[in-house]
Amino acid sequence: MKNILISGGAGFVGRNMVRRMMADPNNRVLFIDNLSVGTDPDGWIGLEKYDEKGNMKRYDEHGRIVFLKDDFRVILQEMNRDGSYLKKQFGLDFEYFHDVFHFAAIVGGRAMIDGDPIQVALDLSIDAEFFYWISRHKPERVLYPSSSAAYPVDLQSESGAIALKETDIDFKRMGQPDMTYGWTKLTG
Ligand SMILES: NC(=O)c1ccc[n+]([C@@H]2O[C@H](COP(=O)([O-])OP(=O)(O)OC[C@H]3O[C@@H](n4cnc5c(N)ncnc54)[C@H](O)[C@@H]3O)[C@@H](O)[C@H]2O)c1
Repeated sequence: MKNILISGGAGFVGRNMVRRMMADPNNRVLFIDNLSVGTDPDGWIGLEKYDEKGNMKRYDEHGRIVFLKDDFRVILQEMNRDGSYLKKQFGLDFEYFHDVFHFAAIVGGRAMIDGDPIQVALDLSIDAEFFYWISRHKPERVLYPSSSAAYPVDLQSESGAIALKETDIDFKRMGQPDMTYGWTKLTG
């Protein structure tokens, strides 16, 4: 069995990843979302709920597909304090995660990026807790999604647009990423 952790698992990208991962019977999937933007999985997961206790929902009797409604930072801090937290608090057998997909973020599109950059900057705190946890837990694989916002804005003007490539980010001559959203992704 492979243990999979998906943060932001009720969001746009996360929902699709949860459905894809749970389709493989060899995967055990824990997904976490505070539902600030995400959609309650009861509405899209396509399975009857097996049980619900507090902020945890299980979608099968063996605990193969489990949802926790919480701030991902809180769960990360608890797991950092105590490696057996998920077992002790929820009775879950996820001692070690092989693959981790990190989609929990304040995204919100252009209006949010320009309109409330300080709220978007909270992504730095989500990512800081996340990177600290993976440095200790050492999953086999981690996926961190970047964004075109990480690239210098002067390469993304309306005139003379170019196809961006990874080498367009040069840490010696970094340029200016796109608002706090871009700074978060560049930092990540
Ligand atoms: N959608 C895209 O086109 C796109 C492109 C590039 C990168 N990305 C990146 O992919 C990731 C997911 O994007 P998305 O489009 O699915 O966004 P989304 O807003 O649909 O999903 C993010 C999810 O995170 C949850 N969330 C926010 N803060 C949380 C917290 N503190 N604890 C727990 N859950 C929290 C939200 O409720 C939401 O469900 C983000 O990192 C985003 O930057 C997305």
